[in-house]
Amino acid sequence: MGQAIATRLADLGHSVVMGARDAANETAAAWAEANGGRAGTFADAASHGEIVINATAGVHALSALAAADGGQDNLAGKVVADVTNPLDFSGGFPPVLSVANTNSLAEQIQAAFPEARVVKTLNTVTAAVMVNPDLVPGEHVLFLSGEDPAAKKTVAGLLGEFGWPAGRLIDLGGIRSARTAEMYVPLWVSLYQALGTANFNIAIVKAEAEEDEE
Ligand SMILES: NC(=O)c1ccc[n+]([C@@H]2O[C@H](COP(=O)([O-])OP(=O)(O)OC[C@H]3O[C@@H](n4cnc5c(N)ncnc54)[C@H](OP(=O)(O)O)[C@@H]3O)[C@@H](O)[C@H]2O)c1
Repeated sequence: MGQAIATRLADLGHSVVMGARDAANETAAAWAEANGGRAGTFADAASHGEIVINATAGVHALSALAAADGGQDNLAGKVVADVTNPLDFSGGFPPVLSVANTNSLAEQIQAAFPEARVVKTLNTVTAAVMVNPDLVPGEHVLFLSGEDPAAKKTVAGLLGEFGWPAGRLIDLGGIRSARTAEMYVPLWVSLYQALGTANFNIAIVKAEAEEDEE
């Protein structure tokens, strides 16, 4: 997923540093070579970016972000777009959620890095759809959760560059609402198995506003 987002960002003309645990990560180096970006550690990526995209394995996201913060407050004041899902595959497939109901990975990240401006988004679609929403026809939607309205606006702008118009972005509210978007993912996995493709998404259909009754 990091590669899909980074490639789209580079194609759009953004300056991208692909972070990994190891600065010599061969996959990241190959991506940088092919896409005119740079590869480095998680801390290199976090210190470079105006926007930090957290596309790390959910069960390791907090330790990856601790490395990104690097003891230098690299995440302080930064918009952190959190696209992870807290999926635990240790019991095989389908995975289970490692956090749910009364908490979420996004809330854990916001609590661990209180100066970061965390926005949960994109976790409800597969990577190819994230960066190319036209792969799926119709007025399907994405969700955003976070405490900082300006950060959500910044992320919405980036999503607009990816091809998601503002009218198809649903602001669910504060970071606590991220738990509901994360808890959708087990249904996403069932749909993936039932439909035989990952290229699908949710469209919301509302009733017209009812006239006031006399
Ligand atoms: N794939 C999708 O279509 C999709 C869709 C929606 C949401 N997501 C979510 O996006 C995130 C990334 O998914 P993915 O499919 O790209 O691959 P992934 O295997 O879940 O994550 C790979 C990333 O996690 C890091 N990582 C792995 N083990 C780690 C550890 N022990 N400590 C620190 N960092 C570690 C990797 O770093 P290194 O480079 O150093 O190995 C790499 O940055 C996940 O949370 C996933 O649930 C994925």
